[in-house]
Amino acid sequence: MSEKTERRSEPPAARAHRRESDGAAPFVPESAGLGQLAEAARSCRGCGLFRPATQTVFGAGPATAELMLVGEQPGDAEDLAGSPFVGPAGKLLMRALADAHIDRRRIYLTNAVKHFKFTRAERGKRRIHQKPSRGEVVACRPWLVAEIRAVQPRVLLCLGATAAQSLLGPSFRVTAHRGEELRIDDYSVSAAGQHPVVYATVHPSSILRGSPEDRDDAYAAFVADLRTAAAA
Ligand code: URA
Ligand code: SF4
Repeated sequence: MSEKTERRSEPPAARAHRRESDGAAPFVPESAGLGQLAEAARSCRGCGLFRPATQTVFGAGPATAELMLVGEQPGDAEDLAGSPFVGPAGKLLMRALADAHIDRRRIYLTNAVKHFKFTRAERGKRRIHQKPSRGEVVACRPWLVAEIRAVQPRVLLCLGATAAQSLLGPSFRVTAHRGEELRIDDYSVSAAGQHPVVYATVHPSSILRGSPEDRDDAYAAFVADLRTAAAA
């Protein structure tokens, strides 16, 4: 089957009612559990990012999780594996969780955007991460809101500006509010129950990118932020 035919495999009726400009909302099943949400997200076409990516990378973790961590978007490794936080930033995060005495099996891990956005330096070469646009973050937000409603965590920890701005608005600055106890000004996330406490910290990849002299301090501050969120 040619690539063109494959892309047209969605039933015509479904295509007619869904436009990319509507974002993910038309693809999100109502009052669904995590399993149904993950399954439905596999065929999301709520923005253009699904086209070059390998697959949707949905969140992972138990529906009973009291702590939810939200990253930016899957990276190269996550795009290939289909699971969040399995690449270099994920390895750093797993080490930091262990150092913060947080059991990773009891937390829910997800991203603000569910498809990997990248460019290639040259044809066929390594894929280079690109920051998702505000439009893409907004398009993908219904999946994140649905995950929050399904899991109902007590605490949400945003890892980096993309996650924080998805939930707290485009003018939110992590540096100005790091470690502060915040609330989301949007009741759609808590319609089913409690309103989670929200914290924001840096993205683990910023620690990897930082200068080697700063790395130990940045890592220690990150572990402290994980501890604060887990204790809340
Ligand atoms: N960075 C993220 O924000 N999320 C991932 O899943 C991996 C890397
Ligand atoms: Fe849908 Fe989000 Fe992927 Fe865009 S990035 S296609 S909104 S899952």
